[in-house]
Amino acid sequence: MLTVDVLLGLQWGDEGKGKVVHAIADQYDVVARFQGGPNAGHTIYVDNKKIILHHLPSGIASSTKYNVVGAGMVVDPITLKSEIEALQEVLSDVTDRLFISYRSSLIMPTHILLDRASERAKGKASIGSTQRGIAPSYMDRTGRNAIRMVDIQRKGFEQMYSRLKEKHLKLLKVYDSEDLVDSLPKMEEQWFEAIEFIRGLKFIDEPYFWEELGDARVLAEGAQGTMLDIQWGTYPYVTSSSTITGSVSIGLAIPPHYIKKVIGVFKAYTTRVGNGPFPTEMPQEIANKIREKGGEYGSTTGRPRRCGWLDLVTLKYATMINGVTELVITKADVLTGFEPLKVAVVYEVNGHQTSKVVPYLEDVKPIYRDFPSWSKIDTSDNNFMAFVGFIEKFLGVPVTKVSYGPRKEQMLELDSLGTIII
Ligand code: GDP
Ligand code: IMO
Ligand code: MG
Repeated sequence: MLTVDVLLGLQWGDEGKGKVVHAIADQYDVVARFQGGPNAGHTIYVDNKKIILHHLPSGIASSTKYNVVGAGMVVDPITLKSEIEALQEVLSDVTDRLFISYRSSLIMPTHILLDRASERAKGKASIGSTQRGIAPSYMDRTGRNAIRMVDIQRKGFEQMYSRLKEKHLKLLKVYDSEDLVDSLPKMEEQWFEAIEFIRGLKFIDEPYFWEELGDARVLAEGAQGTMLDIQWGTYPYVTSSSTITGSVSIGLAIPPHYIKKVIGVFKAYTTRVGNGPFPTEMPQEIANKIREKGGEYGSTTGRPRRCGWLDLVTLKYATMINGVTELVITKADVLTGFEPLKVAVVYEVNGHQTSKVVPYLEDVKPIYRDFPSWSKIDTSDNNFMAFVGFIEKFLGVPVTKVSYGPRKEQMLELDSLGTIII
């Protein structure tokens, strides 16, 4: 039987999931992505080289035998190709250990144009999407129009492509965005080149893949974060996939009762890239300091990330939804010596206090508790341990790791040190 652990983000993405997966991947036979696509940017370091992964699981640079791009994903062939080629500069066996689901769907160049057109049409109310074609491609999936990986091997693939492209071109007219079509020929040329490349990769159908593997240990790697979930996030300022634990079953054909640990990752503060409510967003002056110290610029788009204090109200909600069994705090080093240090513990809505996340987070005002800053990330630092202990008690889940730098070795292990909730 498979043993499946899940690792996912508890905030608005960019929690450092890639780094943490890279640090623990050696414990697994398989690392698998179950949702999202090239909107994700997961950063790892291999031989001093910074690698940003968009589709590939972050286990690809470890000893993990199988790295799966799951059926729940939407895949941009051009990005996938360039991502593999960049990795091949530092690793020799990338394509031997990579397995793509036949049932994942393809992002077409016109999906990217439609994403741009939709954002443009929304004007001030735009989502601030990564403009990678995510929403239009998931719309085609639920609309039962999508082209899937399996189709690139079938006769009639080019006709399928042309039919769907024609539909997209009509939609672009409706958006009054025909000007965007100028860039299409170049994009299509690269896209078909990338399809040729992808035809040479290994494909799987998950149910039978798992059956053949038998007793494997699997780590399912989330993309985005819980607050960007299509259903439970800050709708409509969310992504178009389900980012929570439940999505692992759907995106990878893994029965729910196979799931054992759920590892929730969050930063010691909060960031958000893109638009939408962000209750604990900091005043500009403090946000700028954190952004510079923490290098808070988007891995996929380079956009400056909005910065805010740690929000335990949303974190509690996220641990509930996901059934989190252990927590990993990242970027604790960024807050070393940082004063004042604030943590939101309750919200005020219409003059009343609540510890619940309400469906309109725009309407809440966070109430903070101050913490003294720490001088080092170590169990001997009382201020640091008080911060960790408070979080554990508040969330009712143990913190097992604290990350204090971008490299996989920069990790404090806490489970053996008895900091588990009182
Ligand atoms: P992901 O999308 O959740 O994988 O996160 P990203 O890779 O988009 O963003 C996290 C950023 O923080 C990357 O630049 C990482 O290299 C970096 N990072 C991860 N963990 C730590 C940490 O503990 N401390 C510091 N200073 N940087 C970290
Ligand atoms: P990782 O996996 C942070 C945000 C976008 C936008 C919203 C919708 O690296 O944590 P989309 O392109 O998905 O339609 O954009 O979601 N977003 C992310 N923010 N990290 C991500 O991924 C994100 N993927 C999407 O900025 O607000
Ligand atoms: Mg990221």
